[in-house]
Amino acid sequence: MTISQHVLDYHGNNTIFQVWVFKPQLSVKEAFMRICALVDNLNNSGQNRFPDSGATCVLGIGHDAWLRLDLPRPLPLELENFRPITGAKHTAVATAGDLHFHIKGSQPGICFDMAAAITATLSTVADCIEEVHGFRYWDGRSILGFVDGTENPHGDERAGFGLIGDEDAAYKNGSYLFVQKYIHNLMAFSSLTVEEQEKVFGRYKMSDIEMPDNIKPANAHIALANIGDEFKIIRDNMPFGNMGANEMGTYFIAYARTFSTVKKMLDNMFIGSPPGNYDRLLDFSIAKTGTLFFAPSATFLSDAASGDIFQPDTGKNEVLPNGSSS
Ligand code: HEM
Repeated sequence: MTISQHVLDYHGNNTIFQVWVFKPQLSVKEAFMRICALVDNLNNSGQNRFPDSGATCVLGIGHDAWLRLDLPRPLPLELENFRPITGAKHTAVATAGDLHFHIKGSQPGICFDMAAAITATLSTVADCIEEVHGFRYWDGRSILGFVDGTENPHGDERAGFGLIGDEDAAYKNGSYLFVQKYIHNLMAFSSLTVEEQEKVFGRYKMSDIEMPDNIKPANAHIALANIGDEFKIIRDNMPFGNMGANEMGTYFIAYARTFSTVKKMLDNMFIGSPPGNYDRLLDFSIAKTGTLFFAPSATFLSDAASGDIFQPDTGKNEVLPNGSSS
């Protein structure tokens, strides 16, 4: 019996996202084992010290890191390096990432301390190439002013859409974790009338109610992102903003039972359905990053912490500081 990480939890009020890349020519396995133990410790401590804060940390592992760490083979069925999706006008770029941390909680202080502990453990063997501090904006709105998350699966549906089942039994209760950092052109979006903004999403702004199909444009975000009731994902997006740097955006994060579901949504948005009918939201949003990770079960992480999970040929892909193989 395996237990999932906190991938099905609802939004926290504060979030820190971190993407780390291992330094070359270093042995990283021991640090990884310590990180797995630390994530378990942080989750237990958060729940014990602040039971109502929803303080959690989810660890995701990228394809190349999986190989370098000698994690089990075969790999999770759909774990690969994300490849760019290029439409006629907009591109979903692919960027590097070995480890991803999704930290959330109602208190920013808890999130800050978790990120600090992770950084202290990893910084000798890896570089943090992306750190985004997200916050809950009013009643769960994106920084563009529309409520984000409404059509997420709820209740018992969440596990069915968010967690791997018997189809990949070795990774049961794991989840595919896909992230993109979007920067919005807030000035251009704000210059639209509210009616025009509503057509971008296909929902009414104040009420958060969906437009009827005969009014909703074919290039509205939800017209393209909705690929049918059988294919859903768990989105946990957070807005972020830095007025001084004029950098306002959405950190898109999704957990899914299959990556192909997310990929189909991205194809619809960037290439269009039919091709050319791309997502109007992209005219106001640039994807700066795009990386696929795998969030294994919590049970897998605790086995990794004790060294029980690695391939028998441990060290094959590891490189010691002097450049030789271990
Ligand atoms: C620029 C970044 C994005 C923003 C600001 C954004 C915002 C929103 C908003 C406001 C909604 C309507 C309310 C809701 O149901 O949540 C929505 C729906 C949705 N979005 Fe996004 N989104 C973004 C990117 C994406 C991406 C990259 C995907 C998929 C890969 C995606 C998948 C979905 C899905 C599946 C829905 C629900 C559609 C439905 O069933 O009605 N979104 N999004």
